[in-house]
Amino acid sequence: MAKIIAGKGSSKYEIHIVGEKFPKSLINQNIGKKSKVLIVTDSGVPKKHINKIKDAITNKTIKVLTLNQGEKSKSFTSFKKITNKLFDLNFDRSDCLIAAGGGVVGDITGFCAATFLRGIKYIQVPTTLLAQVDSSVGGKTAINVEQGKNLIGSFYNPDFVLISSGFLKTLSKEEYESGLGEVLKYAFIGNKELKNIIEKNSEKIVQRNEKILQLIIEESIKTKSKIVTKDERENGIRAILNFGHTFGHAIEAYNDYQNITHGAAITLGMIIAAKISLFEGHIKEYQLDNIINMTESLGLITDHKKYKYSHLKKYIRSDKKVMDGKLNLILIDKNLNAFRTSNFNNKNIIKALA
Ligand SMILES: NC(=O)c1ccc[n+]([C@@H]2O[C@H](COP(=O)([O-])OP(=O)(O)OC[C@H]3O[C@@H](n4cnc5c(N)ncnc54)[C@H](O)[C@@H]3O)[C@@H](O)[C@H]2O)c1
Ligand SMILES: [Zn+2]
Repeated sequence: MAKIIAGKGSSKYEIHIVGEKFPKSLINQNIGKKSKVLIVTDSGVPKKHINKIKDAITNKTIKVLTLNQGEKSKSFTSFKKITNKLFDLNFDRSDCLIAAGGGVVGDITGFCAATFLRGIKYIQVPTTLLAQVDSSVGGKTAINVEQGKNLIGSFYNPDFVLISSGFLKTLSKEEYESGLGEVLKYAFIGNKELKNIIEKNSEKIVQRNEKILQLIIEESIKTKSKIVTKDERENGIRAILNFGHTFGHAIEAYNDYQNITHGAAITLGMIIAAKISLFEGHIKEYQLDNIINMTESLGLITDHKKYKYSHLKKYIRSDKKVMDGKLNLILIDKNLNAFRTSNFNNKNIIKALA
């Protein structure tokens, strides 16, 4: 069991990482005394996980609201559904929302918590690997609109995050590998301990060994929480968490957000960014090989040849990291530290995507 603290001042919160069994006291302490509880989940989260959370909560009125699984649920429609339920239940600021699911459930529930009565308590119980190592920490909440993904939202930290590696057993191979993409990201942007653990335990990671899973989740969150606590509003250092994401997002957009998971796309994006780092002279050939080998040792695909510069160009140019018309990239240096730069030769992007 591990505990990490994230956030600053009054918005500080604890993140606990536990195994299959989770201590009831943890969740009850964090819900508080006189509260009602609404658990928001989606139809893809196995019922047994929700029952486990319900069983751990004592002496409370617990209701469950189940959204349809999938990205479409990060919508105004879900926002209305959840907030109407909160009104029906007479929720006040001492009551508690729980997001039990992947990043979709986490983002929409967090947004409702941030805005209902100008902010109520909420707890994240992430059940996908991606949500455990990424979306449940950092306070970004959002819904999608027709103009684009995540364009309406707020920064609003949860009161508590409870991560159980036991939930990951039922995750599909695709979704598990998607989360592993983000885990690798933390290893490639400077977490050397995590890199070591992955290099020594790739087989156990593929087999979802609980002990190792808890370790890689802990290391991933250490990196994420350190960065987001320094830069809560994404004005600076938080950008390095986007390593691989300029190209990954372009690959997702080119595929119309279908048939490829976010983690699979950003894994390809990281390989492309690592190649550019090599061509720009920041890392050596053996370091690129090491990145590719590590990625493949977890069963993830590194071959990005079907995505050519001509396919991705327009999406790369519309990336959030274009500032004053200049594209910013997150690259890595010889110590495997990530940095943001607009100082690179465009030919090296074309070469990496040749
Ligand atoms: N807020 C942030 O900082 C942040 C960061 C990264 C991603 N995100 C957002 O997160 C979302 C993606 O999250 P995701 O990858 O978790 O996808 P997801 O929430 O859609 O979950 C993937 C699928 O797994 C199912 N599932 C969840 N838990 C399961 C379990 N234990 N066993 C079996 N199936 C389970 C879900 O029902 C869903 O069908 C995107 O909307 C993205 O924008 C947010
Ligand atoms: Zn990501």
